[in-house]
Amino acid sequence: MQKTILTGLRPTGNLHLGHYFGAAQNWVKLQDEYDFYLEIADIQALTDNFDNPDKVRKNVHEIAIDLLSIGINPSSVHMFIQSMIPEIAELTVIYSNLVTMSRLYRNPTVKSEIAQKKALFGHHGESVTYGFVGYPVSQAADITAFNGNLVPVGEDQLPLIEQCREIVRKFNSIYGETLVEPEPLLSKAARVKGLDGNEKMGKSLGNAIFLADSDEEIAQKIMGAITDPNKIRKDDPANPEVCMVYYYHKLIGNKNLETVCEECKHGKRGCVACKKELILKMQEFLKPIHEKRAYYETHPEEVDAILLEGTEAARTKAKETMAKVRQSVKIDYFD
Ligand code: TRP
Repeated sequence: MQKTILTGLRPTGNLHLGHYFGAAQNWVKLQDEYDFYLEIADIQALTDNFDNPDKVRKNVHEIAIDLLSIGINPSSVHMFIQSMIPEIAELTVIYSNLVTMSRLYRNPTVKSEIAQKKALFGHHGESVTYGFVGYPVSQAADITAFNGNLVPVGEDQLPLIEQCREIVRKFNSIYGETLVEPEPLLSKAARVKGLDGNEKMGKSLGNAIFLADSDEEIAQKIMGAITDPNKIRKDDPANPEVCMVYYYHKLIGNKNLETVCEECKHGKRGCVACKKELILKMQEFLKPIHEKRAYYETHPEEVDAILLEGTEAARTKAKETMAKVRQSVKIDYFD
């Protein structure tokens, strides 16, 4: 039988190169081999954006366009909106009995997100909500609602998958074999560095190139990228391994990479020229994505139809799981 994969993303902003190379590119490769559920996790986005529903609403549409633009094929992938599957909310409540508070606080992803909030908001960071601390439980519901065997994600999501596996094992041991225990599927470049050399590219870090960035924005951002700090003059030899410009040449698969590397090492290539080459290559790389985006931006009704269809398919599957879960937990009254 064809295996099922489920993955999701929070609609809090447009996709950037970190999302693309860290995970989404892999989704495009996997889409024809599996029964693929791709969730736009608006409820999860609300856990830390509950006071900004406009932002989440707008980004559901934006993320859908981003995904279609990179080549997600709606006839092989069920792309759906989390909040339209009430079974996910029901499962979350049932699973919440199977997780301790201390286990949630120990989840490395949640822990670092809480630390980040404290750093950003000072003592306000202390007031994390029940919904936020509990989002791994809701994510376990996302995955299991569709019997996800495999979850293709970036590295930062591994602790959430582990937490889901624990919930599944606990559920099955108490209520009998019901749920499928998922496995993560890591993509090769699980993490992409930022323009500033930070280990992680992130919207809130201000070091990202978005797939939807215009040619001008791309040029401006690349001109500001960090290069080898020891290179002062344009004919100084430098170390490409510490240069973000070289890093992105490599990331997007510049065929000229060998030359870029050798010329840089031997002081035969100035940083400005190197950046200009990268700008052109990056614009070329993003061009087909921009073309698809332009199409969907002018055909919003097609995007809506795709989401609606994906959501219907997802709902059908989630209902099947929910029926089994009700039976196992003995709350299948009058069924
Ligand atoms: N937590 C994921 C992120 O922040 C998004 C997500 C929601 C997800 N539900 C999921 C990922 C289910 C994998 C499986 O990117």
